[in-house]
Amino acid sequence: MSGVTELSYTVYEVSDLADWERFGVELLGMAYGEKTSKGFTLRLDDKAHRWVIEEGPKDDLVASGFSVSSSADLDAMAARLRADGVEVTEGDAALAAERKVDRIIITADPLGNRVELVTGFADAETAFESKNLLGRFVTGAGGAGHEVLMSGTVSRDDYLHFYNELLGFRTSDIIVEEIAPGFFADLIFLHCNPRHHSVAIGDMPFPRRMHHFMIEVTDIRDVGLAWDRCLAAHQPFHMTLGMHPNDMMFSFYVETPSGFNIEYGWGGLLIDDATWEVKTLDKLNSWGHMPAGPVAQMLAAGDANSKFGN
Ligand SMILES: [Fe+2]
Repeated sequence: MSGVTELSYTVYEVSDLADWERFGVELLGMAYGEKTSKGFTLRLDDKAHRWVIEEGPKDDLVASGFSVSSSADLDAMAARLRADGVEVTEGDAALAAERKVDRIIITADPLGNRVELVTGFADAETAFESKNLLGRFVTGAGGAGHEVLMSGTVSRDDYLHFYNELLGFRTSDIIVEEIAPGFFADLIFLHCNPRHHSVAIGDMPFPRRMHHFMIEVTDIRDVGLAWDRCLAAHQPFHMTLGMHPNDMMFSFYVETPSGFNIEYGWGGLLIDDATWEVKTLDKLNSWGHMPAGPVAQMLAAGDANSKFGN
C-alpha cells in the first residue's frame, strides 16, 4: 500500500496575524512567505510554505496537508477511504493554487481534524533565507516537522485505523506516564518516513485540537538562540529545555500567540523500518521539560532568597 510520504504543511486559524508574524519570523526564525487573501504564509525551507496562517477566531490547527507520491496513489487512497465509509471530496483549482499543489483531496480524521492529501507540493520561487538561524530547519524527506493532536473521547482503535490502515502510517512507539496519582498521559507516535513521528495522538487535558507542532533545527545553537529570543520577548514558555526518551529530541516548548505550543528541537532520531521495534515507554521525558510556570516561580523565589546573592 502506498501511504502518505510526509506532513507537508499545516494551516492555522489565528486571531492576531501581526503577533503570529512576529512570533514566526522574529522568535522562531522562519521566513515570511507571502501575503494571502486570508493572512500570510511562513516558510521553513525552499518549499512554497510550511505554515499557512489565516485570520479567524479558532486559534487552533484547521488543516494538515500530507503529500502522496503520485496522482495514481492519491486516487487509490481516496478509493480506500471511500470504501471504508470516509467522506472524501476533490479540492478545486482555486484551493490547489492556494496550497501550491497539483491536486488536493479533502477528508477528516476520526478526531474531526481536516486532512488534506496532496500531490506536487511546489517549491518557492526564491531560496529559503532566515535572518535568525545559524543552520537551517530539518525538513526534506521528513516533512515540515511533527504535530501532536488531542484524541478527546475518540478511541485509539478508531484513529489508528484511519492513520495506519488508510493513510499508511506505522506506529513508532507509545508512552504512558502517570503524571499525577491515578492520572495518565497516554500518547501514540506514528511515522510515515524516517522522522520518528510526523503525527502523535494522545489523551491529555488540553483545550485545543493541537497540543504542539515541532520544528527541528540542524544546529543545536539555534535551540539556545531561539530560547533566548523567546525569553527576551517574554513569550510564555510551556516547558523548559529537556529531552524525550523516544525520539531523543532536545527541545523546549513555547506558547504560540494562539495558546497551543511549538516544540523547538534538535537531534531527533530517525527510524529504519527494517530494524525498528515498537515499544511502550513509561516516561515522556528523559530529563527537563518541566512545566515552565512552576520553574519561573521557583526562580523568582530563589532570586529573593538566593544563597548565591550578595
Ligand atoms: Fe513533540
